[in-house]
Amino acid sequence: MTSNVLTDRFDRVHNYLRISLTDRCNLRCTYCMPALGMQFTRPEHLLTTPEILRLGKLFVGLGVDKIRLTGGEPTLHKDLPDIVSGLSSLDGLDHLTLTTNALKLPHMAAELKKRGLTGVTISLDSLKPDRFSQIARRDRIDQALAGIEAAIHAGFSPVKINVVVMANVNEDEILDFLRWGEDKPVDIRFIEYMPFPDTGWDKAGFFPYKEMRQRIESVYELTPMDNEPSAVGKGFTVKNSPMQVSFVTSMSESFCGNCNRLRITADGNIKACLFDDKEKTLRDVMRDGGSDDDLVQVIGRALQGKPYEHEPMDDLLKKDNRRMVAIGG
Ligand code: GTP
Ligand code: 5AD
Ligand code: SF4
Repeated sequence: MTSNVLTDRFDRVHNYLRISLTDRCNLRCTYCMPALGMQFTRPEHLLTTPEILRLGKLFVGLGVDKIRLTGGEPTLHKDLPDIVSGLSSLDGLDHLTLTTNALKLPHMAAELKKRGLTGVTISLDSLKPDRFSQIARRDRIDQALAGIEAAIHAGFSPVKINVVVMANVNEDEILDFLRWGEDKPVDIRFIEYMPFPDTGWDKAGFFPYKEMRQRIESVYELTPMDNEPSAVGKGFTVKNSPMQVSFVTSMSESFCGNCNRLRITADGNIKACLFDDKEKTLRDVMRDGGSDDDLVQVIGRALQGKPYEHEPMDDLLKKDNRRMVAIGG
């Protein structure tokens, strides 16, 4: 069922919901959070599992057909398998996916697949152990690679690999990632580095999509795929390989005009745009005994306040946005 509630002022239909399950993480990636001084949300302020499932059901009833579970690190949520079972059984939900750092996937990938998860996206920013540890501030590359293997082995295909490309940090590994992925059913997604508060973001670290693509095309033959208009990644097939390559061009070629995404933060706010600091609480409506109709009113107001697009890259840090770890990407 589609409804007007999820259509905004610019006629964009929102059928994709990203639910953050926690703002905690077992890594400390530099582009996502500061090394020190993180204050995580107190457990009683987080959505409970029944609240998450209630919202999932409500949004699917309003027309959402894809849900992505994010974090922080969503595999740290003790009820993740039950949340996956509960959401995947909703009539009308076609895709239920997870964005994770993969550390816990060796023990969880097969189970989550069995419970109805349809896709996995894994963050991996370096193939070099020392550099991985510098970026993630934890020495865990072996677990991350084992998690990727487990996801492939469980039958997720393609497994999406998110690489945030940063100038003078890991941009020299673009071709290494292609060599690594050449014989794997993976979609390597090179992501432009986006500014979020307290992450030390600096324009000098920005590495644009066009340059990533040039580097790859000096060696590999890329053929554009038929991308959904709302996709954040421009996808390509690679000649003679099962691997795909995508570019997430949020800063150099933003894709806001076709945006179909809504977010719920781990503390229960609806966030209509990744870069918009205006949020509305759904948690408190539920805890005050609000009905589904009351929730729909708040959702409708959040949608109507959604901006057409985000500000230019240089202005984004002036906003009072959350840190990425508290949004979930
Ligand atoms: P699929 O569409 O299922 O492939 O997933 P996705 O690309 O929406 O999710 P993922 O969590 O892998 O995000 C990939 C990158 O795109 C991350 O860096 C996100 O922060 C970024 N991204 C996701 N949604 C948006 C968005 O609405 N706007 C912008 N500007 N960037 C986004
Ligand atoms: N810029 C670009 N992408 C980011 N992500 C997290 N922080 C940033 C940032 N500052 C990406 C990670 C993760 C996804 C959810 O968001 O790669 O996979
Ligand atoms: Fe959508 Fe906002 Fe992301 Fe643009 S920045 S694509 S409007 S969520």
